[in-house]
Amino acid sequence: MLKRIQRANKRDSRHLRFYFKMKHFLALCLLVSYVAAEDLRSILRSPKETLKLYSNFKAQEHLAFGASEDRMRFRMFRSNAEFVADANEEGSSAEFALNFFSAMTADEKRQYLGLNITGHLPNAPVLSSTPLQTPPAKKLWTNEEAVTEVKDQGKCGSCWTFGAVGGLESRYKAKSGVLRNFAEQEYLDCVYEGLNRDGCNGGWPDDCYTYSQHNGGRLAATKDYHYGPVDVKCEASKKPNAMVAYKITGFENVRAGESANIAALATGSLAVAFEVTNYFQQYSKGIIKDTTCSGRPNHAVTAVGYTENFVLVKNSWGTGWGDQGFVKFARHYDNCGLFDYSSYPTLKSTGKQDTTPADTATPYRPSEDDVVCEDVSHYCRPDHCQYEDLVEYCRKTCNKCGDDSDDGGDGDCPSGTVMCDDGVCRHEHMC
Ligand SMILES: *[C@@H]1O[C@H](CO)[C@@H](O)[C@H](O)[C@H]1NC(C)=O
Repeated sequence: MLKRIQRANKRDSRHLRFYFKMKHFLALCLLVSYVAAEDLRSILRSPKETLKLYSNFKAQEHLAFGASEDRMRFRMFRSNAEFVADANEEGSSAEFALNFFSAMTADEKRQYLGLNITGHLPNAPVLSSTPLQTPPAKKLWTNEEAVTEVKDQGKCGSCWTFGAVGGLESRYKAKSGVLRNFAEQEYLDCVYEGLNRDGCNGGWPDDCYTYSQHNGGRLAATKDYHYGPVDVKCEASKKPNAMVAYKITGFENVRAGESANIAALATGSLAVAFEVTNYFQQYSKGIIKDTTCSGRPNHAVTAVGYTENFVLVKNSWGTGWGDQGFVKFARHYDNCGLFDYSSYPTLKSTGKQDTTPADTATPYRPSEDDVVCEDVSHYCRPDHCQYEDLVEYCRKTCNKCGDDSDDGGDGDCPSGTVMCDDGVCRHEHMC
């Protein structure tokens, strides 16, 4: 892959240097989950073991610091490791792990975001009169070869281009039958061209769709317009348009709230925004349900599916982060603004057929066994399970997360209740 990029991109040394670094970086990230969650706590009890862990971490991340910086980085690493150990003991349905964020300052961590929310309000909520089609119980675009491989924005606040392109890719595939890997770099270079703004300092996904709309509905393919984590001069006029069968005519905002988002997600991927916290940055797998958000979204990503238990999101931090680059957000939960700013591009047929060979789809297939086993309220009691409204809030108590020894009968339901067809324990007449 490096050879190909080298050939295609000989003149742009800035891009090239990045690919050298990324190649290294990606190879290393895969090695990072070297300490099991249970071992981390015991390592942290011993200063000597903690130092050893830090040394391994630096070796694997190819990090080297001068003496005084090293002391500062070690303190950050240790406090991050303690954070990870604590988070794993909170008994949530997500797991957390050390990763390439674990020895970074807050400023450095921010460079991997890039949503500029200035001037943007949450989308209008669903009106009770808005007719919503009932979506299927689950839709995973990953499982339909409609999601490209996980990409990596690197140290550039360009998440907004990745969120936008992700929102396009599965929709283009659903309509044209061809999965194309579209170019974030065209948006990064061209969207705020001439406005004296550096796209690596942040942007807004819808501005990408508007840019395409004003430029004949076009967008290049990644193979023609390579990504590098720098905003340079717009080269769109030199790059072929890869929107062959459909063109982008603008965008549609999804009404705020989970039900409208799920309905829209059933028709294709969405550009979504939310707030990244420390928990999110150290996420490794399972279903996250973050309760520590302050209320200001700072990151754009792509929602690529849902089941009854989670919304599946594709991030742009490489496959070394999270669950092979993906993250599962809990259903029936606000999730740090995840359902408030979603959009997707509107497409119009060009009358042509796209005969380009399909680009590579992600091999990732989310495990669908994960369930959220937390009760929303500490006050959940089994006798609450007879009330339809409370079952959602008392899932654990109501045995939706029953243990593996489930004998298929009603043995796991609190006495007086039975397992209804939807897997929830209720009084028989409530099924
Ligand atoms: C954020 O967006 C606002 C409004 O469009 C713009 O004025 C500002 O320059 C942007 N900030 C950055 C860092 O690009």
